[in-house]
Amino acid sequence: MNLPTQATIIEVGPRDGLQNLATFVPTLTKIDFIKQLKKAGIKEVELTSFVSPKWVPQMADAPIIIEECLDEETRNFVLVPNRKGIDRLLGTACKNAAVFVGVSDSFNKKNINKTTEESLQELEPIIRDLKEKNFFVRACISTSFYCPYEGKVEVADVLVLCQRFASFGVDELSVADTIGMANPKESLELFSALKKALPNIMITAHFHNTRGMALANIFAALQAGIDRFDTSAGGLGGCPFAPGASGNVATEDVVYMLEQMGISTGINLNRITKALENLLPHLDKPYESQYYKWVKGTGPLSQV
Ligand code: HMG
Ligand code: MG
Repeated sequence: MNLPTQATIIEVGPRDGLQNLATFVPTLTKIDFIKQLKKAGIKEVELTSFVSPKWVPQMADAPIIIEECLDEETRNFVLVPNRKGIDRLLGTACKNAAVFVGVSDSFNKKNINKTTEESLQELEPIIRDLKEKNFFVRACISTSFYCPYEGKVEVADVLVLCQRFASFGVDELSVADTIGMANPKESLELFSALKKALPNIMITAHFHNTRGMALANIFAALQAGIDRFDTSAGGLGGCPFAPGASGNVATEDVVYMLEQMGISTGINLNRITKALENLLPHLDKPYESQYYKWVKGTGPLSQV
């Protein structure tokens, strides 16, 4: 079995976890959530996004979140889709950008109103410029397994897109199963191909858990040599423009699985639970985390 001794969790809850909620979560609650997550040992986090507040109202407070949550100890990302997002980012002290593009044109059009190629044309000079300014740049590759509009996505198409981003100089590729349709065989195939084609770039797996496959897909990705995982505390999340997408795989479920297998994450599960306790009363949807259910005594183990 091919298992690492350590793995890195990139917490996407403050951005992916919250972006799709209809009820606005108070800004102070978001800030407290982020600070608690950091106290739990999170070292990389997507804080928020600079997108249109008309498209994603939940992220309208991005400037305050960034102002209050930047620190030296954590790699704090802001998600940005275009030139305007980058210009806003350059007006802050944040030095970590996460750009995002879908492999499938139909999804990219629904999500950011451009074809994939149009997004690439816009992002190439932006990324080269950010690298000259010593930014850490991550590229989030949506619909890497399935598209809600076009169906199955080919491994070869994901490879081509990832190679393009690598040639622009990105530091990391976060490869996403946007609507949670992948199975472990597909996870192993895609991540093995990516590791082989791009051995010198950080590759992260981003799974949504729509069909309960995310932990199995992570186990398969580990076999392919992946040791970085995007997760969201409470299993919250989903892209508003990907019909059928549900929450990201829960941070606490992934940390529990990895630690039980002897893979160190540096994350304290009790503290993640504490971070969720303050957040959950403000949400208009339930959390989706097996570990948290168990801690709260509603899961099957509590009845044993
Ligand atoms: P558009 O309507 O084509 O944009 O939307 P535009 O350039 O024509 O501008 C329209 C208005 O938006 C203008 O304002 C611009 O200033 C403003 P107005 O004159 O009407 O007042 N605008 C912006 N405002 C703030 N920040 C910006 C920005 N850009 C333009 N960066 C746009 C294009 C990209 C803005 C829009 O489609 C958008 O905001 N989309 C958001 C998409 C999004 O946030 N999706 C969720 C995140 S991706 C995701 O969840 C997937 C991921 O988790 C991985 C996975 O699971 O697959 C990462
Ligand atoms: Mg996502």
